Amino acid sequence: MKDVNKLTIEEAKTELKHLAEEMAKSDIAYYQNDAPYLSDAEYDALKHRNAAIEALYPELIRTDSPSLKVGATVKSGFSKITHRFPMLSLGDVFSLAEVEDFILGVKRFLNTAEDISFMSEPKIDGLSFSARYENKKFVSGATRGDGTTGEDITANLKTIKQLPLILPDDAPNILEVRGEVYMAKSDFFALNEKYTAQGKKPFANPRNAAAGSLRQLDSRITAERKLSIFAYTWGEVSSRCWQSQSEFFDCLRSWGFPTNPNNTLCHNLHEIEQSFERLMEIRSSLPYDIDGVVYKVNSIALQERLGFLTRTPRWAIAHKFPAEQAYTKINNIRVQVGRTGALTPVADVEPINVGGVIVSHATLHNEDEIKRKDIRIGDTVIIQRAGDVIPQIVGVILEKRPADSKEFIFPDICPVCGAHAIKEEDEAVRRCTGGLSCPAQAKERIIHFVSKDAFDIVGLGDKIVEDFYQEGILHNPADIFTLEERNGGDDLFSSAQGLHLERREGWGKKSVDNLFKAIKARRQISLPRFIYALGIRQVGAATALLLAQNYGSFFTFMQDMINKETSKLISIDGIGEAMATDMVEFFQEPHNINIINQLLTHIKIEDFVDNRRQNSAFSGKTVVFTGTLEHLTRAEAKAKALDAGAKVSGSVSNKTDFVIMGTDAGSKAKVAKELGIPILSEEEFIKMI
Ligand code: IVH
Repeated sequence: MKDVNKLTIEEAKTELKHLAEEMAKSDIAYYQNDAPYLSDAEYDALKHRNAAIEALYPELIRTDSPSLKVGATVKSGFSKITHRFPMLSLGDVFSLAEVEDFILGVKRFLNTAEDISFMSEPKIDGLSFSARYENKKFVSGATRGDGTTGEDITANLKTIKQLPLILPDDAPNILEVRGEVYMAKSDFFALNEKYTAQGKKPFANPRNAAAGSLRQLDSRITAERKLSIFAYTWGEVSSRCWQSQSEFFDCLRSWGFPTNPNNTLCHNLHEIEQSFERLMEIRSSLPYDIDGVVYKVNSIALQERLGFLTRTPRWAIAHKFPAEQAYTKINNIRVQVGRTGALTPVADVEPINVGGVIVSHATLHNEDEIKRKDIRIGDTVIIQRAGDVIPQIVGVILEKRPADSKEFIFPDICPVCGAHAIKEEDEAVRRCTGGLSCPAQAKERIIHFVSKDAFDIVGLGDKIVEDFYQEGILHNPADIFTLEERNGGDDLFSSAQGLHLERREGWGKKSVDNLFKAIKARRQISLPRFIYALGIRQVGAATALLLAQNYGSFFTFMQDMINKETSKLISIDGIGEAMATDMVEFFQEPHNINIINQLLTHIKIEDFVDNRRQNSAFSGKTVVFTGTLEHLTRAEAKAKALDAGAKVSGSVSNKTDFVIMGTDAGSKAKVAKELGIPILSEEEFIKMI
């Protein structure tokens, strides 16, 4: 190939045309047909040559140049952006009584009897985004992702006309504005009409259409779709010039961001109720979908005092609109076996549209629930779904019960492996006793292991895990990490055959490469994810985080569990005896230890570094509160200590670093004195925090 510097302008022009055509062809093969014929290196060589020629003859840059294509440069999907401040979600409630409880909880936490003002905002049914501005210029944008890391959608956000790219002089130098991207109902209908006319599959609802449009690798496609935004909160800011949520909305508007015209400031529960009812009324006439109302404590000072739970703020809540209901018929009841062996009855129903989503199954929870509601096969029932919740059966329409309706007899053997299924006296669920020899449990454990809050291996969806398990490709989570070596070329000198996943129907080299890349990326894993991934009964993501914070390293935790040493465990606020028993039991099971040992040969578990304040006087320290505090409520004091990196324990021992003593302190203070543990007054604690 001729040296770029020696090309004549005519030659350069011809070659740029050729490169554009060649790379466009390769892109189609890669992105649309899953059948790439160029290696990454070959593709990169073309890209570099194209860039080199363009650098020499900028006047020849073509409108269809590969260098201008966004999709072509982001080969394995979007790159990631780690949020400087996590993008949280909201707790949700479904009734006014629960809203009242929430408000009472806020008041209790703040120890005040006075009314607190809340901002009431329509909950926009779209996708959240975060837009970052540096020196008043839009520099990057991200989706929420898992809350910690999102996808880089900078180019796509730029195509949304409502998003300002330059901010006025009075905006902070660093500013992250967050809000919702949505598709207006009219734009959604127009898009679907166009799609149907072109013989393409229409989108199910505006939210899906917005998601599909925003998550396009080729931002020219995003630009063709009409997306809109509302801004409603912030991430990192260099200086905060607002004292309340309502002032923040004023700032947003003055900087050119669209805010929702129905946001209203409410001064008490009555006004909150009014705002909810009003939004329910106008919901169907709004030009966009909303699925509830968000209430936020208006004062930022109070928000700061309230702080956060694991994933949600204590100062805001989503009040969801009532669930949508429909009538349908139960065709069959069957039993599913979950990861921990729980037998869950599921009703297969006549497919029905419930609030825009076709529902064909509903959970029946457990056998008592079937008895209590007297649900039989053949019955006509009221089915409901609310948000992302699995559809539920509300009740039976007895007048419509056919003469041949059939009662469901709950099995006492596991329908998958045939082992006994036992119901403990104090438990609602019946469990299969087959453990990991039960294929359902083994399979569900793998599904859990790769799920979003665990190892988050995107290429291994439920169906694939199921197939791989059935075919003996995956027996347990550790097998995931040998997939790549087992896939390889056949070894002529052995009888072993490679898996050749790329030859599977619907797969290609690209999907296999992406899967291996995703697996490789997880060979180093954070401690909370790892603990959660193990699938210990009762240990959800929040508990896994607590364990990580308290133990710091997996080995300390495992050692204690193997030795049935639970004193530290149950001293953790939020972990009780029953949970502790489940954890110890998990580590007494040789099969589990075996899998953990196998996993450890493939992966590295990061020690937990508490990114809450590391250099505070309390980081890593164990504190105990006793007596009545005057300035802080107990909940607030505890939250402050946790935020400062402390562990809060309920009892004093020689592992306690500080005891914070209020008035009327009892025996704990005495024990602390005896053990010579430093005692702080509430004032000293506040000063140190
Ligand atoms: S505030 C820390 N305000 O609802 C507070 N969220 O369930 C973060 N949403 O992920 C969110 N409208 O996608 C907030 N006015 C609003 C909202 C809103 C819609 C979405 C958002 C968030 C989810 C939380």
